[in-house]
Amino acid sequence: MKVGIIGGTGVYDPQWLTDSHELSVDTPYGTVAVTEGTMAGGGEPVLFMNRHGLGHAVPPHRVNYRANLWAMAARGVKRVVATAAVGSLNLAMGPGSMVLVDQFLDFTKSRPTTFFDGGETGVVHSDMTEPYCRASREATLDVGKAVGVRLVNRGVYVTTEGPRFETPAEIRAFRLLGGDVVGMTGVPEVVLARELGLCYTSIALVTNFAAGISPDLLTHEEVLEAMADNVAQLRTLLGAAIPA
Ligand code: HPA
Repeated sequence: MKVGIIGGTGVYDPQWLTDSHELSVDTPYGTVAVTEGTMAGGGEPVLFMNRHGLGHAVPPHRVNYRANLWAMAARGVKRVVATAAVGSLNLAMGPGSMVLVDQFLDFTKSRPTTFFDGGETGVVHSDMTEPYCRASREATLDVGKAVGVRLVNRGVYVTTEGPRFETPAEIRAFRLLGGDVVGMTGVPEVVLARELGLCYTSIALVTNFAAGISPDLLTHEEVLEAMADNVAQLRTLLGAAIPA
């Protein structure tokens, strides 16, 4: 199964790939820059893209999610593994935790969230009983055990619109609703992947306790620093999780 990686905040460089080359993939939604190469052990080509574009220039609410996922499918990708920096609402999932999320709550406001926009594209109501790919989550969990990277199996990802962080009142509300982690990109990425029939997994790396739980004010720099502290583990996991 051809694999695509969506590198989120802090994961900008497809350093697992050898023989890599850059490609521009045209889609009905715009052109996407991707890198294609092979994992160190060989095997099928693997695709890599930066969710936030070169130099982290694109904020979460402006990411061209439809183009990104379309480009994946157009290049023959069947399984997508995404990384995501998240805040935590759950005291059992502190900074440094990696969570294989299995459900989401959607609080986004202004993003195209479907390929099926009526007219020629039709009307489709996709099932979201199991939005994330179970087989890939379970395989990733096994790989984590094998390479000694601790993973939390299952978690509810709350997606906010951003780019601002949340208020403590919002975080309290999200906790009451059953959220575990909070980020700004999970939806519509998983939804669009599902619409295209892709097997999509998200590895959420907790960079901070969310607003009001953390005693400090949140900054993007703090998120980047926490990401930098843990990115080696995430890379080890991804390197092992993508079959050669
Ligand atoms: N909130 C939203 N998105 C985030 C956070 C957060 O606390 N940390 C990293 N991404």
